[in-house]
Amino acid sequence: MEEVTIKGLTFVPYLKEEEILKQVKRVASEIRRDLEPGDAPIFLCVLNGAFVFAADVFREVDVPESEITFIRFKSYEGTQSTGVVKQVMGLTESLEGRTVIIIEDIVDTGVTAQQLRATLKEQNPKSVKMATLLFKPQSLTTGQVPEYVGFEIPSKFIIGYGLDLDGQARGLRDIWVLKDKEK
Ligand code: IMP
Ligand code: MG
Repeated sequence: MEEVTIKGLTFVPYLKEEEILKQVKRVASEIRRDLEPGDAPIFLCVLNGAFVFAADVFREVDVPESEITFIRFKSYEGTQSTGVVKQVMGLTESLEGRTVIIIEDIVDTGVTAQQLRATLKEQNPKSVKMATLLFKPQSLTTGQVPEYVGFEIPSKFIIGYGLDLDGQARGLRDIWVLKDKEK
């Protein structure tokens, strides 16, 4: 089988670009369907991992009044969540009264989502919803179920389409999964 090796770890194919883009289109149409007349949504891309999904889903939603902005968090070291989420870059615009759509690459424990929603609430937005390309329901420890989900996946470590291993592999067009150790 085809494989890629990043930092000494071997990954095998998991989701092809074509399947990913199909789910991006579906998620975008759900977001568009739920907008209220006159809504000028602000998309909030959670860096770094979500930048590829955000670019694709934002263009696919295709509402001319929509805006996009960025916030940055870091929680992973290697293939494990540290459980501590650091905000590395903050928000500059006001979200008061805005329809906010958080764009995540993946919801794992949900700790990032929980912290983010708590931070946003202080600004009194009209509504806050979260769209994630990937969701690992079995890893969720927080009750932070995202409103829009591209794929539900098991609790395995993946890379590509924005997702990284210590900063590498984000540019892969497909998504790859860490190969199980051979016994
Ligand atoms: P959470 O706070 O545990 O939900 O973690 C969310 C963040 O952890 C994501 O936005 C990713 O940056 C990172 N993450 C979680 N699972 C993976 C994975 O399988 N591959 C790469 N990054 C991951
Ligand atoms: Mg992330």
